[in-house]
Amino acid sequence: MSGPRRVVSVVGTRPNFMKTAPVVAELARRGDLFEPVLVHTGQHYDDAMSQIFLEELAIGAPDHFLDVGSGPHGAQTARVMERLEPLLVELEPELVLVPGDVNSTLAAALTAAKLNISVGHIEAGLRSWDRTMPEEINRLLTDQISDHLFIHSPEARDNLLREGRPDAAIHAVGNTMIDTLVAMRSRIEAPATDRPYLVVTLHRPALVDDPEQLRAAFAGLESIAADMDVLFPVHPRTRANMAAAGVEPSAPGLQLLDPLGYLDFLGLVSGAAGVLTDSGGIQEETTFLGIPCFTLRDTTERPVTVEMGTNTLLGRRPDRIPEVPGLIEEARERPASVPEGWDGHAAERVVDVLTRAETYA
Ligand code: UD1
Repeated sequence: MSGPRRVVSVVGTRPNFMKTAPVVAELARRGDLFEPVLVHTGQHYDDAMSQIFLEELAIGAPDHFLDVGSGPHGAQTARVMERLEPLLVELEPELVLVPGDVNSTLAAALTAAKLNISVGHIEAGLRSWDRTMPEEINRLLTDQISDHLFIHSPEARDNLLREGRPDAAIHAVGNTMIDTLVAMRSRIEAPATDRPYLVVTLHRPALVDDPEQLRAAFAGLESIAADMDVLFPVHPRTRANMAAAGVEPSAPGLQLLDPLGYLDFLGLVSGAAGVLTDSGGIQEETTFLGIPCFTLRDTTERPVTVEMGTNTLLGRRPDRIPEVPGLIEEARERPASVPEGWDGHAAERVVDVLTRAETYA
């Protein structure tokens, strides 16, 4: 073999940065063997959704920025493919690594696969069994065309085997997003306050693109703000939908914030009495931190956070939000543990796999 192996990592959205940063850092640490290249599609582009994470996670400027921006699914996916293809032709990497389940993930995997470049999927095998979620389509298809499937929970292997993926392609490495949390932990500080508070994030189209659901969610939050402070960093999609639906909540304890950086957000979560969310990654971060999490969705692709961790699936039921303060007490008493491999060393195991493999095909 001649020279270090070039590995292109593609990121696009806020949650991708935490999953990929430790892997790129580990590849760089083994610079005699690997040449990491980072491509940012620009699916997320606001400073608060992108730049702050690059800085805080010490990722630095990406080597290539595709500037695809927002758009309907087809257009956004196509734009990533159109702009990534010539770059991959030029770079001729041995492997393209993609994390998670966003449009940039599928677009990059598909572009690489069609160029006969091997693909590695970080966070493979998660399934919500709900194909109305864009992320579920992205997961299913990315896993079908990936040569290396890096999983972080046991049911992911069963899901992949059931879909015909070969056992030898599946690597149980653990959770690279938790690597980031472990690495940053000494810099994550809970705010100084005596009042218990609930952290809220809601951004899924199924919830926030539906004005009735959105209104009901804020009515619920206003009602619990009488019992505890409610701190809600609002995703741009949610902010836009609130404006369109004329939702202007106001209750003394309810604070709508701008999107937060990694350290501020995890700081807030680490000091929270509980978290209400429809996010994927936050179900995992709360499980690691031992904070009760209430997921406002009908399904979760992360059942291990319910079975072992601190997560409770409420359903897509904004009418259940007023129950949350009462449920927090019960949740705190339930035994919970952290899944295997969520230990700060997952990226090392990813790169161990890549080091051992003689070829990536
Ligand atoms: C995307 C992912 C979702 C992930 C989420 C994390 C897909 C299909 N969805 O959803 O899985 O949980 O990221 O945040 O890939 N916008 C801005 N500034 C930005 C980015 C977006 O204002 O930097 C606004 C735009 O109005 C845009 C909307 O947010 O149209 C939605 O952005 P988009 O990337 O399409 O989807 P997300 O809802 O962010």
